[in-house]
Amino acid sequence: MKTHICPWWFAYTFDNRIRRLFHKPEELLGPYIKQGMTVMDIGCGMGFFSMGLARLVGHEGQVISADLQQRMLDILKLRAKKVGVARRIKTHLCQPGEIGVESAVDFALAFWMAHEVPDMDGFFDQIQSILRPGARFLMAEPKFHVSFDRFKQIIDSARQSGLKKCASPRIGLSWSALFEKREILF
Ligand SMILES: C[S@@+](CC[C@H](N)C(=O)[O-])C[C@H]1O[C@@H](n2cnc3c(N)ncnc32)[C@H](O)[C@@H]1O
Repeated sequence: MKTHICPWWFAYTFDNRIRRLFHKPEELLGPYIKQGMTVMDIGCGMGFFSMGLARLVGHEGQVISADLQQRMLDILKLRAKKVGVARRIKTHLCQPGEIGVESAVDFALAFWMAHEVPDMDGFFDQIQSILRPGARFLMAEPKFHVSFDRFKQIIDSARQSGLKKCASPRIGLSWSALFEKREILF
């Protein structure tokens, strides 16, 4: 499927102070994060959610902020430095079709990015392999850009990778799905 990647300069239209009126990162992600966790913000853009994640994981935790565009990651690094959380954030440049993160994570976020991924099945297989057993994965897609039918197809693809959908948290302007990686039972 042909998809469109959000250019770095366009991110300023939604990654700004006004967005905080309907997306409050700490409030939205707080229920899933504990101090000391390792978490991933995939398709992090300029880091709107990475900053909140960095505050939530605390000084012993780590945020892996991963994106296809180096320019996004460079802006994110400057922002993180400005708000004093740079040491908690590791940036990672993904390759098309390959997330390329090696560490296992306790939580992953994909906010307003999954619709930009051409190989959805491959993408969710990779997410599934990065999550620790029992870890959760929150996905949100923009209602103004992604139809409900398309969102259902995206959820089906995540389920086929073995992720279990456990909730649909209310998130402003978004469709959302919370998944869990099943624990391994012997
Ligand atoms: C619309 S922006 C959302 C940014 C951020 N999550 C937010 O909510 O502010 C989508 C981002 O996903 C990134 N992206 C798209 N496909 C990707 C992929 N396959 N791997 C990593 N990043 C990707 C784009 O470069 C862009 O920065």
